[in-house]
Amino acid sequence: MPKIKIVPSILSADQDKLQEGINEVEDYSDLLQVDVMDNKFVPNITPQAELLKKFNTKVPLDIHLMVKEPSNDYIKTFIDSNKKLKINNITIHYEACSDLEKTLNFIKKNSIIPCIAINPKTPLDKIKKFLDKVGMVLIMTVEPGFSGQKFVEDCMEKVQELRKLKPNIDIEVDGGINDKTAAIAVKAGANVLVVSSFIFKAKDKAGAIKKILASVK
Ligand code: DX5
Repeated sequence: MPKIKIVPSILSADQDKLQEGINEVEDYSDLLQVDVMDNKFVPNITPQAELLKKFNTKVPLDIHLMVKEPSNDYIKTFIDSNKKLKINNITIHYEACSDLEKTLNFIKKNSIIPCIAINPKTPLDKIKKFLDKVGMVLIMTVEPGFSGQKFVEDCMEKVQELRKLKPNIDIEVDGGINDKTAAIAVKAGANVLVVSSFIFKAKDKAGAIKKILASVK
C-alpha cells in the first residue's frame, strides 16, 4: 500500500485565524485540503477561488470541488488565483460532472493530478472505467457538505474493493476521520486521510495529527 498521507481540511478551521491554523499543521501535513462548495451540488457554500488568496503555505493543495458541472474556466480560476501556492490535485465528483473525462483531461493538461470523488451511495462500478486516468480516488465517508458528521463505515467495502483492484493507487477518505476511524479506513486500504474537525477543533492541532498517525501504525 502507498504511504499514509495526512490531509488537514481547512473547512472547519477558524477562518479569522486561517493562516495561524495552517502554520500549526503544515509541518505535519502531506497535503492541505481546500473544500469548495456551490450550494447546488451540496447544500452549503464556501468562498471560491478567492479563498486561495487568503493564505500561503509550503504544503501542496488538494482542491476538492463539490461543485455542479465545474467548467474549464471555473477550474482555471483556482489555478490562477495564487501562483505562490502549489496545487497537487483537483478532485471532481462523479455525480456532479456530465463529461467527467473531459474535465479530468483539462486538469491534467494544466499539470495538476486529476482525481475523482464518489459519495457514500455511489457504487465503485460507476468510476471503474476512469481509474487509469486519475492519480487518486476519494471515497467520501460522509455525505459531502459539512464537517463534523459521523463516519459511514459501510463505505469501507468500496475501499477494500478498490485496494484489491489498484494496489498502488492513492485512496483518500474524507468525513468523520479521527483517531478511531482512521485505523478502520487504513485497515480497509485507504492511505490518504482527510481530517477537518478532529484537527482544527483541537487545541493542540499538531498533537491531533500525531494521535491519528499513532492510531494507524
Ligand atoms: C465534507 C468535506 C470534508 C469535511 C470533513 O463535505 O469534504 O472535507 O471538511 O470534515 P470532518 O473531518 O470534520 O468530518
